[in-house]
Order: sequence, then C-alpha cells, then structure tokens
Amino acid sequence: MPAVKEITVSQLDTKEFIKEKVSEISRIVGSGVAINALSGGVDSSAVTMLGYMALGERLKTYFIDNGIMREGEPQQIVSAFKKLGVNVQIIDAQDEFFRALAGITDPEEKREAITQTFYKKVFGNLVKQSGAKYLLQGTILTDVDETVAGIKRQHNVFEQLGIDPQEAFGYKIIEPLVQLRKDGVRKAAEALGLPLSIYNRMPFPGPALSARVIGEATRERIALVRKATSIVEEELGSIIAFQYMAILHNDHVTGMRDNKREFGQQIEIRCWDSIDARQARPTQLPFTTLDKLAQRIVTEVPGVVSVTYNIATKPPSTMEAV
Ligand code: XMP
Repeated sequence: MPAVKEITVSQLDTKEFIKEKVSEISRIVGSGVAINALSGGVDSSAVTMLGYMALGERLKTYFIDNGIMREGEPQQIVSAFKKLGVNVQIIDAQDEFFRALAGITDPEEKREAITQTFYKKVFGNLVKQSGAKYLLQGTILTDVDETVAGIKRQHNVFEQLGIDPQEAFGYKIIEPLVQLRKDGVRKAAEALGLPLSIYNRMPFPGPALSARVIGEATRERIALVRKATSIVEEELGSIIAFQYMAILHNDHVTGMRDNKREFGQQIEIRCWDSIDARQARPTQLPFTTLDKLAQRIVTEVPGVVSVTYNIATKPPSTMEAV
C-alpha cells in the first residue's frame, strides 16, 4: 500500500502543482487516450481541467447519468464545461444503475453495487469503445484516509485497498489530486480557471442521492429525495455551511392531513459546518429557516409528514446517512 505524501493548503503552490500534474499526466498517457467521468463536483472538475490541459482532445470526458443525481444536474454541468471549451458527453445509464440497486438495503452493498455498475459495466464499456487505457480520477486524501480506516467504502479508492484496477477493471487509474484535501483542491480549481460556482461548489458524494436514501434506492424514492434536496438547496443557498442535504428515512410514521390519518415518510435535514469533512458540527440554523424548510417539504413533497434536523456531530455521525 503506497504512502501518500500530503500537500496542505498552505504548502500548495498552485502554479507548480498544475505544471507538475499536467506534465505527469502527459508522461503517463504518452500518445494514448485517457478517459474520465465528470460529476461536476470540484474534484472531478479539477481533474477534467488538468487532463484537458495535458491531453486536449485525447481526454474523453463523460457525464454518466446514473439516475441518482440532483434535478437538472447533467445538463447544467455539461453546459458549464462547454463554456470552458471542454466537450462532455452525457451517457444515459439510469436503467443499469436502478437494476443494480434493486432490492439492496445494506449501505455498503449499495455502494458496492454502484461501484461495480460504474466501473465494470458503464465505464468498462466506454473504455472498450474509446480505446483508452487510462482513467483520470479525482480521489483526494480524505477518501483514502477514511477508506483505509474502514469507515466507509469510498466510491473511488482501489490501490489503497490492494485492488489492482488493471486486473479488476482493465485500466490504469491516475489520481492527480490524491495528495490534497478539499481546501487544496478548491485552491487548485480556482487556479485552473474554473468558475466560482464550481471551485466553491458544495461536495456531493459519488453514490449521489442513493447515499441519502436509507433502505432501497428505487426510482420513486430517489425522486422523492431529489425534490426535498431541491428545496433544501434553494432555502439554504445563501447560508455559509460546508454542506447541506435531505435524507429520506426508511421508517414511516403516523401523521395526519386533511383530518385523515396518514402513515407517511420522514425527511431528515442535515447542515454541516466543517473545514475538511473529517469532523463536522451541525450549523446553528435560525428556527425560522428550519420552519420554512419543514413547511415547504411537507407541502411540496408528496407523502412526507415528518421533517427533522440532525443535531449530532461527526464523529460519531458521518455527514451522509449511508
Ligand atoms: P461522510 O459521510 O463520510 O462524508 O462523513 C464526508 C464527505 O465525503 C462525501 N462523501 C463521498 N464522496 N464518494 C465521494 O466522492 C463517496 O462515496 C462519498 N461518501 C461521502 C460527503 O458528501 C462529505 O462531503
């Protein structure tokens, strides 16, 4: 297991870092073709720019529409990159992902199903079609730490777990951001010319909204949490926090609507203050904000009768629910 040497945000010389990573990618890929999946998060966006600077059109960038992203996300990301001169192709893989997630309730099995579908099926096929032997990926040091510590099976860490991606998936993974933490990635992303809306973008997990559905991630349950997520992001858009999210619980609870008993769904809101995602505290949101969130969610998201706000810290909680 190779040790990774951290570059802290104060040590990071973005100009040097970019120069070094661009030449490293050029050297490794040579005259070949590399492929990468862009999710629109700051990590994959920074990697896309580094890869584009190193390889130009020899980098094939795809947005995998797995059906578990937020409202309008694929189109928004693709058009943001078009403005930067980077062509991104959307791949509709919704059916594959929902088929793989069917019947799975265990958090780790869910993550595993997504990983396997992403790398073996969807990406495997794309790599075969493109002829690429290299995959650029936005793994950061926090992903490595938490995976090695066994806290979570991250979406994007292989070599640290002793899994050979060449053997398991048929390609070599290049991870240019692996020495950085989130704050360092944001600084590098800004220096790469990405817009504020991207370099300052809130983190969003690889397993996307399925990390925010406790129990089975069906199309219907994802649609429900997607709606709640839009409301939370609209209402909290102007507050200062590391990350905020809506979570759909598995248990139903008794509620009442229009004078009738309704055995309904529960949405939990989490909003975190954090520097680097290793530790986090719930943001002290004003009660009027929470009240507005609850009112909108029970009115606009069908079947929801309960809205709660998480007040536990990480640790022992994690930021995502799954
Ligand atoms: P947790 O839930 O582990 O989250 O406290 C810490 C940060 O990591 C994000 N996260 C992920 N990011 N793949 C990712 O790329 C994942 O599987 C994953 N799980 C969690 C989470 O959104 C938070 O910012």
